[in-house]
Amino acid sequence: MSQKTAFRIFIIGTLASGVLFLALTWDTHRQVETLSHADKLSPQVIAGKRTFEKYNCNDCHTILGFGGYYAPDMTRVVQRVGEEGIRFRVKNPERAFADSWRKMPQQHVSDAEVENLIAFFTWVGNINNGDWPPQDSKKRMTRGEEIAVAAGGLSPGAAVFQNRGCMNCHSLHGKGGTFGPPLDTVGRRLDLERIEHYIRNPKSINPNAKMPPQKDLSEKELEEVTKFLAGLK
Ligand code: HEC
Ligand code: HEC
Repeated sequence: MSQKTAFRIFIIGTLASGVLFLALTWDTHRQVETLSHADKLSPQVIAGKRTFEKYNCNDCHTILGFGGYYAPDMTRVVQRVGEEGIRFRVKNPERAFADSWRKMPQQHVSDAEVENLIAFFTWVGNINNGDWPPQDSKKRMTRGEEIAVAAGGLSPGAAVFQNRGCMNCHSLHGKGGTFGPPLDTVGRRLDLERIEHYIRNPKSINPNAKMPPQKDLSEKELEEVTKFLAGLK
């Protein structure tokens, strides 16, 4: 290859990459409005962001990946624990995280401020960011491994219960969350079919249900965890 050809390849390659880079950058910026649904930025969402700053939630929590790495990322917290779940945790962190080694402080956030925070988290949770950052929840949800042992080894249903967030709100053998009722004897109260409906759509069984529908479970996971719970008598 002559020096001239090499130079030509260099120039054309650099220009082509440059053009591609600029086009992609322009295309991304063009979509920011839609992806971030900026039109839904209500005054309450903005007030929620201010509340988030006022209490320095960011010291411990990341949101969209920014902040402290001590506590779970807040980007998808509404999808994870539901609005009621957020109210309960922010108002009563001592109870919500009683059996956790990580602690969240009681900051006496007012009711109105909690509602603003929820509006803010809902807005952030609906940004289409390609599931980034990965949500810190698995690690926290594996607490209470004794349960698996107590349940006679890790049956597939017990594993779903442990790993898919049920223990954020429910306890078994005294381990787990306190927002929802202990489920040690749930099989006595509800039959298989009602348990299954409860998990997918709590309001279909209990119109006042505060439990968020567990939409992330696959059909198979739903079936297994239902079987597991129906057997707890
Ligand atoms: C000093 C650190 C700290 C501060 C400040 C803090 N948190 Fe937390 N927060 C935690 C920890 C630690 C956890 C997780 C506890 C656990 O489950 O182990 C947590 C959990 C949560 C959860 C549940 C998340 C989930 O995925 O289950 C919510 C919601 C929450 N915090 C909201 C807030 C809000 C809103 C603020 C500000 C008003 C705030 N936190 C301030 C430490 C903190
Ligand atoms: C954000 C908290 C939360 C999460 C997460 C959660 N639940 Fe619940 N659950 C509740 C609350 C609160 C109730 C009590 C009734 C109500 O308000 O819905 C409940 C009730 C139930 C009941 C009915 C109990 C009864 O005696 O009537 C079942 C069954 C149940 N949950 C199963 C599950 C399973 C399985 C998972 C995980 C896949 C799960 N829940 C995740 C909060 C939660």
